[in-house]
Amino acid sequence: MPDNINHQRRHLLLGAAALSAGVLPAVPASAAEPLKIGLIVPMSGPFASTGRQIEAAVKLYLQQNGASVAGRPVEILLKDDGGVAPDVTKRLAQELVSRDKVQVLAGFGLTPLAFAAAPVATQAKVPMIVMAAATSVIPQRSPYIVRTGFTLAQVTAPMAQWAARNKIRNVVTLVSDYGPGLDAEKVFVKDFAEGGGKVGDSLRAPLRNPDYAPFLARVKDLKPDALFVFVPSGEGAAVLKQFTERGLAAAGIRLICTGDVLDDDLMASIGPAAAGVVSSHHYSAAHPSAENKAYVEAFGKANKGMRPNFHSVGAYDGMHLLYQALKQTRGDSNGDKLLAAMKGMAWTSVRGPVSIDAATRDIVQTVYIRRAEQSGAAWYNVEFDQAEKVRDPGV
Ligand code: PHB
Repeated sequence: MPDNINHQRRHLLLGAAALSAGVLPAVPASAAEPLKIGLIVPMSGPFASTGRQIEAAVKLYLQQNGASVAGRPVEILLKDDGGVAPDVTKRLAQELVSRDKVQVLAGFGLTPLAFAAAPVATQAKVPMIVMAAATSVIPQRSPYIVRTGFTLAQVTAPMAQWAARNKIRNVVTLVSDYGPGLDAEKVFVKDFAEGGGKVGDSLRAPLRNPDYAPFLARVKDLKPDALFVFVPSGEGAAVLKQFTERGLAAAGIRLICTGDVLDDDLMASIGPAAAGVVSSHHYSAAHPSAENKAYVEAFGKANKGMRPNFHSVGAYDGMHLLYQALKQTRGDSNGDKLLAAMKGMAWTSVRGPVSIDAATRDIVQTVYIRRAEQSGAAWYNVEFDQAEKVRDPGV
């Protein structure tokens, strides 16, 4: 195989340089071996947009930064787990580790899938970069997990605080009934109450095949000042459609939500139903930094005009974290050494300043409050307020 030929030649060259210099090579013998990354994401099924976004971001990162780092050619082994079956994710992680000998696991579109793979990372001692799944407890499931996306608790707390400060007194919450939804509900209820507000009812819709209509009918009867919503990315358009069709907006009920609901990937299909909706999140394609403008442009160019969403940024930053860690270890992909290098790392992301908390291995970042607005023919979440250096508050 050409890969192997390259690899052997590399070793020979290293050996010759070391001989002529009369010293041992400064880089470990493994330095020229390919670095294999097992990327497990939903490329099919109801959450396929997450896989598409993550794959596009990883490819863009390699295109911009080179398909090798610290002397190691980078190989991505992309696996589609379908997004709904934890046992499939676990089997793929096991195969990647034992058969394909990957040195890193990455991706993980939903919380139950990250939970399923965590013991595999622990056993194999390979770093597991969680790019999308956002339940607070995930990094506690393995000492090899590091998260580059966000947590629901992290982005919900500033939303609850903003609502309490802005004359919203009475809220009903509606979340998807699983990890990140339960985290969002808990943090919203607590922080909103601390700000003087009252949550009248907390509704939970099933994750699989949800029908939001009966929940929204109940919200209309309760007539709160606002409805707070979290549903995972991909689901928001259905919620917005029902919210409008059922006349909640017309009845004077405001919609507030996390940015998962107004996912940039969906803004074109949501359109005017998003007008004026206030949400909180760590990334908007409209984030007005030079870094982000360049990112959105390059991402669109490489992907037929596709707009990057927050999951793409979790993936792009996950690759950055890995590349920087490998530079620090001078190409050594030992799991413990890579984790040590990742802990405490800080950089300027396209979303703003971020760092990896050395104690929790979770991302620390700015959370923005945004309003959905039309710009030309397109709809964006325009940031107008922010909370800096937000850690996962835990739940
Ligand atoms: C999750 O399952 O953790 C998850 C998925 C999609 C989101 C947020 C959280 O938008």
